[in-house]
Amino acid sequence: MIKITKKELAKDASLYLARKMAEAIRKKPDIVMCFATGRTMDAVYHELVQLNKNEPLDCSQVRCFIVDEYIGLKKDSENSYRHYMNEHLFNLLNFNEKNIITPDPHSKNHDEASRAYEENIREASGIDFLILGVGLNGHIGFNEPGSSFDSRTRVVAIAEETKSSNKTLFYNGEEFPKTAISIGIGTILESKKCYLLATGETKSHIIKRFIEEAPHGGLPVSALKNHLDFELILDKDAAKLLE
Ligand code: GLP
Repeated sequence: MIKITKKELAKDASLYLARKMAEAIRKKPDIVMCFATGRTMDAVYHELVQLNKNEPLDCSQVRCFIVDEYIGLKKDSENSYRHYMNEHLFNLLNFNEKNIITPDPHSKNHDEASRAYEENIREASGIDFLILGVGLNGHIGFNEPGSSFDSRTRVVAIAEETKSSNKTLFYNGEEFPKTAISIGIGTILESKKCYLLATGETKSHIIKRFIEEAPHGGLPVSALKNHLDFELILDKDAAKLLE
């Protein structure tokens, strides 16, 4: 049985996840967290920053990873996921730079950089708390349809559908990348606790498929049905096609 939490509004669903994050950090100050980016996550990080105003949260020991990073952007690009995380979360709470590890998209050898990132996660004893969003085609991180359920961090090609959906978020006319480094589905399945948040009507079709289809490689998000401690968080719009 998948654990599903439904909230009325996207704001409520985001606040629910932000509270889970705050609780987890209070319980284990040096927790290993891995963060997704994207429109859905904006509200979660915003809510966490708001929570911190009333109940200060010490993030100085939290060990941080991110789910994925584009390859081929200019150094310090505003479009990078590291920049996104700095702006939406890392720079807004007392995270410690030395505890933040993100994939190196500027290394000469991307395969080596991917292996090194996977090794960094292993050295941290794995991910305790993972937050995911979902793409319209069912991708998680940048694990596009066809990704193997035992895949590890690697270089991935970004699907056409994902390009059209994400390039509207790109600033300054920078060319949209063809590839990225993403943690693998195998890496995701080994996380100790995993949350996926989907909000808004545009996600209702993929959520319906997730609920109805047995796990298969054509629908990467369906792998989460094999996760040992997974929770799906929805607002009413994303849940609208469910019984
Ligand atoms: C992007 C990211 C994912 C994110 C997903 C959903 O491509 N690689 O990590 O979860 O797509 O994004 P959004 O929340 O903007 O719909």
